[in-house]
Amino acid sequence: MKTILITGGCGFIGSNFIRYALQQYQHWHILNLDKLTYAGNRASLADIENDSRYTFIQGDICDKELIDTLFRDNNIEGIIHFAAESHVDRSIIDATPFVETNVKGTMVLLDAVRQYGVDRFLHISTDEVYGELGETGYFNEDSPLQPNSPYAESKASADLLVHAYVRTFSIPAIITRSSNNFGPYQYPEKLIPLMILNAIHDEKLPVYGDGLHVRDWIYVEDNCSAIGIIFNEGKPGETYNISSGSELTNIDVVRNILKILGKPDTLIQFVKDRPGHDRRYALDNAKLLNATNWKPSKPFDESLIETITWYKDNERWWRPLLTKDYNQYRKKIYGEASTFNEKSKE
Ligand SMILES: NC(=O)c1ccc[n+]([C@@H]2O[C@H](COP(=O)([O-])OP(=O)(O)OC[C@H]3O[C@@H](n4cnc5c(N)ncnc54)[C@H](O)[C@@H]3O)[C@@H](O)[C@H]2O)c1
Repeated sequence: MKTILITGGCGFIGSNFIRYALQQYQHWHILNLDKLTYAGNRASLADIENDSRYTFIQGDICDKELIDTLFRDNNIEGIIHFAAESHVDRSIIDATPFVETNVKGTMVLLDAVRQYGVDRFLHISTDEVYGELGETGYFNEDSPLQPNSPYAESKASADLLVHAYVRTFSIPAIITRSSNNFGPYQYPEKLIPLMILNAIHDEKLPVYGDGLHVRDWIYVEDNCSAIGIIFNEGKPGETYNISSGSELTNIDVVRNILKILGKPDTLIQFVKDRPGHDRRYALDNAKLLNATNWKPSKPFDESLIETITWYKDNERWWRPLLTKDYNQYRKKIYGEASTFNEKSKE
């Protein structure tokens, strides 16, 4: 058995990855270290909780003592580092936890890698570190880092730390930068689940600005398969963009969701734009396609239908997340445009 430490495995991408990896890599024993912030949810892994190849540890990646203990007690051969504060809007309210977890937490893990050694440290980063594009062009792995939001800045700082540890201490680290993910088990503050749940409740769908911001969408299962391949086959010291090339404006995504759910476009409500909102992201994925045999499993439209069907069938997963706190948060961000009615508040 090979022991792999996964951080942030109770979050959206981490939980999807753990489920995927337990099926795909039978010889892995997964240690899932997660602090269980508002975004971490053990229910996302309820179906594999009792798998003998899976161990959950509640804890903070910034806790150096805990990380030391984990390394001393286990023969950790690889790390896949998902744990992060991940929501741009929250980083605009308060950047503190973003710098703490995304920068300091990553450094604690890098120091452990330096001290104890692993075969591979895979750092999960984002396309947002590159900043924004105009109407044309793509970011490749050599594009300069020009992050704009506090979230993107904290991720870019972590990427630079990884780079420094590779260069200075020759640690076997790889960085992946994926575009916007969507799919099952995504916390409903993010665009696609937010819109699906608002539409299901016949509530207004708040769209920032003119809705013409472009994102390059990837189905979470496709990101997970790319991460697995890069972890096993990627070259230490390298960075790989992960994208399936599905560029859409936010308003088109929202209209697609309404169409699939059979709801009217009149539910759309344009709201004040996010401060510093990046206009367009788009990734060049040629390096990944040339270096591996990865390809996306299905077109965007099919993955979106699968995602919507999953949310319709899994109210037991998302209903407990629609708390008073969550409602207050949404009111703060979008004003009255996004508040579930009384009966769905608790
Ligand atoms: N969601 C996307 O579209 C997207 C796109 C590109 C990159 N990423 C990156 O992928 C990674 C995972 O994103 P996600 O959407 O699954 O995030 P998420 O917010 O859904 O999950 C983050 C997880 O990390 C845990 N966590 C937070 N702080 C922690 C700490 N200090 N110690 C231990 N655990 C902690 C949370 O409890 C949660 O389970 C992040 O690094 C993010 O930057 C996300």
